[in-house]
Amino acid sequence: MNHLLSIEELNAELLNNLVDSAVTIKAERSKPSSQPLAGQTWAMIFTKSSTRTRVSFEVGVRELGGSIMFLSSNDIQLGRGEPIKDTARVLGRMVHGCIIRTFDQQDVVDFSKFGNIPTINALTDDEHPCQILADLLTIKEKLGTWDNKKVVFIGDGDNNMSRSWIWAAKHLGFELVIAAPKSCLPPTNFMEQVGASNITLTDDPIAACKDADIINTDVWLSMGQEGQAEKEALFGAYQVNKELLEHANDDHIVLHCLPAYRGKEITEEILELHADTIFQQAENRLHAQKAVLTKIAQ
Ligand code: CP
Ligand code: NVA
Repeated sequence: MNHLLSIEELNAELLNNLVDSAVTIKAERSKPSSQPLAGQTWAMIFTKSSTRTRVSFEVGVRELGGSIMFLSSNDIQLGRGEPIKDTARVLGRMVHGCIIRTFDQQDVVDFSKFGNIPTINALTDDEHPCQILADLLTIKEKLGTWDNKKVVFIGDGDNNMSRSWIWAAKHLGFELVIAAPKSCLPPTNFMEQVGASNITLTDDPIAACKDADIINTDVWLSMGQEGQAEKEALFGAYQVNKELLEHANDDHIVLHCLPAYRGKEITEEILELHADTIFQQAENRLHAQKAVLTKIAQ
């Protein structure tokens, strides 16, 4: 594995391998670890805000023996229009790997090509692969497996999280239901490209949650969509709340990649009821990403 650009380009074997490795890395965190990134310097280029991703990568790279530098796009020439391919060709000659959070998936792909160093997608408008790995780890810890589980993603069905979930379901074969207002469901051409019969789309949140094992939500307006009041107004019936969860299996879990907007996509009551799972999910970013970095360093 040279890069982590998307869940799309992974497969079941790699996903299982990364989650299993994360389980071990998590269990052995207090022991002296091998230092697969010893002598390496990694860069992070972020053009969007971050708490979890930034902190978990900074800690993770250091725990694996490497050094890391955070580069806000406002502070480097990228923010003044220097092309990503030039930025990549410069950094590629100086650092050993780069973790990028930005808008356009193509920028991450281009960086990996022109930089010729390991490149990790830390969220684009298309995908959030690191988050999905942490989510799968959380499901494994809480429910033992995702096999034969019903996973529901409720909210904006056509954002980075829903698309990464769709690719994970395609590779791993679990049942996935995307519940969103009609105009926020993934487009037909995308679903045709995925071509998976275990994934269904609906605008009925109650039907989606019936007998669900895992209910997953995310912000209604992703970074870059702030202020789109008309879009936000579509989601009233798609809040994860007590009434909706009455339709799920009794032992369901609730996932939220965070940050959460209480009173919008999830109620305060439900977020706090499931805080143990949701903050374990946040912590799992660290362990899952250490598994990715270790795999890339092999
Ligand atoms: N879930 C997630 O990626 O959080 P941050 O935006 O805080 O990194
Ligand atoms: N869909 C959200 C995820 C945040 C971690 C966004 O892109 O803002």
